[in-house]
Amino acid sequence: MIPQVPTYLLDRCGLEDSHTLDVYRANGGYAALAKVLGGMDPAEVIEELKDSGLRGRGGAGFPTGLKWSFMPDPQKDRRARYLAVNADESEPGTCKDRVLMEKDPHGLIEGILIACYAMRVPVAYVYVRGEFRHPYNRVAAAIDEARKAGLVGENVLGKGFDCEIWMHKGAGAYICGEETGLMESLEGKRGHPRPKPPFPAGHGLWGMPTTVNNVETLFNVPFIVDRGASWYRTMGTDASPGNLLVGISGHVERPGVYEIPLGTAANRILEDWAGGVLNNHKLQAWFPGGSSTGLLPASLIGLAMDHDSLKAAGSMLGTGAMIMLDETACVVRAMEVISRFYDHESCGQCSQCREGTQWLHQIFRRMENGRGRMEDIDLLESLASGMAPAKTICALADAAAIPTHAVVKHFREELEAHVKAGCCPRKTARTPETVEAGA
Ligand SMILES: Cc1cc2nc3c(=O)[nH]c(=O)nc-3n(C[C@H](O)[C@H](O)[C@H](O)COP(=O)(O)O)c2cc1C
Repeated sequence: MIPQVPTYLLDRCGLEDSHTLDVYRANGGYAALAKVLGGMDPAEVIEELKDSGLRGRGGAGFPTGLKWSFMPDPQKDRRARYLAVNADESEPGTCKDRVLMEKDPHGLIEGILIACYAMRVPVAYVYVRGEFRHPYNRVAAAIDEARKAGLVGENVLGKGFDCEIWMHKGAGAYICGEETGLMESLEGKRGHPRPKPPFPAGHGLWGMPTTVNNVETLFNVPFIVDRGASWYRTMGTDASPGNLLVGISGHVERPGVYEIPLGTAANRILEDWAGGVLNNHKLQAWFPGGSSTGLLPASLIGLAMDHDSLKAAGSMLGTGAMIMLDETACVVRAMEVISRFYDHESCGQCSQCREGTQWLHQIFRRMENGRGRMEDIDLLESLASGMAPAKTICALADAAAIPTHAVVKHFREELEAHVKAGCCPRKTARTPETVEAGA
């Protein structure tokens, strides 16, 4: 039985036709927008967001209200201004924005409209990864419905607020999920990240003030406005309030997207929500928030899923995408796959990333193929130290370096045994079921 905890994010998702305007409205939808347009000052909305403590769900966990407050005052800065909605969902293991877009697209649209009102932005772009055809179609259809109902476009709800929302399809590049790569791509160029500073609030899309927010972040906004910051703080922890969508995958009985209060212990999520490790096996390792976050050993599965607890343990909450590896899995094989991904996805602008990701992959590949050398383990560490932190234009290099450091720190013996045996020492532990399941 899944534990009964207060939820709000996924509450409408199980309803029939949850993606339609009628169902959204019948369940309280657009009440927060009406409240905001009915008499809240934009600055008041930003204050409410700041008080709520909402932190971005795109991976970095930056406070949302604070980010919004960086947008310049439109009286003093008369340039065009934009909101870019990050629906690229490219971090491996992550699959929660997709659910919101498919099942509850009006929730996202309402979040976008309130964000635009608060930052006095008249145009938002939703950047959706190319593979997400169904979510794209759902959001596009919901925008059309909302436009016909006077919720999007000129004079929203007759309150003199203009807000246009446009959709844009990416081409499935990880780097286009990075906020400045996303903006380059939206401008029709290659998704090459830009150096920061200047930050998007001063110099974003087409050089104009821009805020980039993740889908789940914006989805939280109408609830906060409607029910208040103090309600929001009744869930989660002081430093990480609210609920989080956790996408749990790998060797678990019930993989899926679950809504949990931030700060819930990872072992509870694994056992109570995801039904435990597949086939009653033992857990060996887990990524707490996508493949860019440090791989942790089973002994740390009691950690709380929130920003500070995972940071203190040398990992990150990331996107909350928990990937579980059981005792039969090979961490070298896992790292070979992951490092191949980063090598493929590096945009190539920075030599540390272009070269580093390529070398990390070569080393994990030769270990996996039985040609690893003992000195490769220290070489992995030294390469990862040359790539991050903050040595490149964007954090893709960090995304490759962080799990590498973690695997050397927590699984050195495993790597050594692999090199010594010339193959995975766990091969014998595999069973027909786990091989079948792709272990
Ligand atoms: C390589 C890379 C890929 C990223 N991919 C995504 C993504 O797919 N979706 C997302 O929301 N954020 C992604 N991010 C984080 C964004 O740069 C940015 O921090 C986020 O969209 C900000 O939104 P938030 O404040 O609402 O979390 C990525 C970052 C990096 C370095």
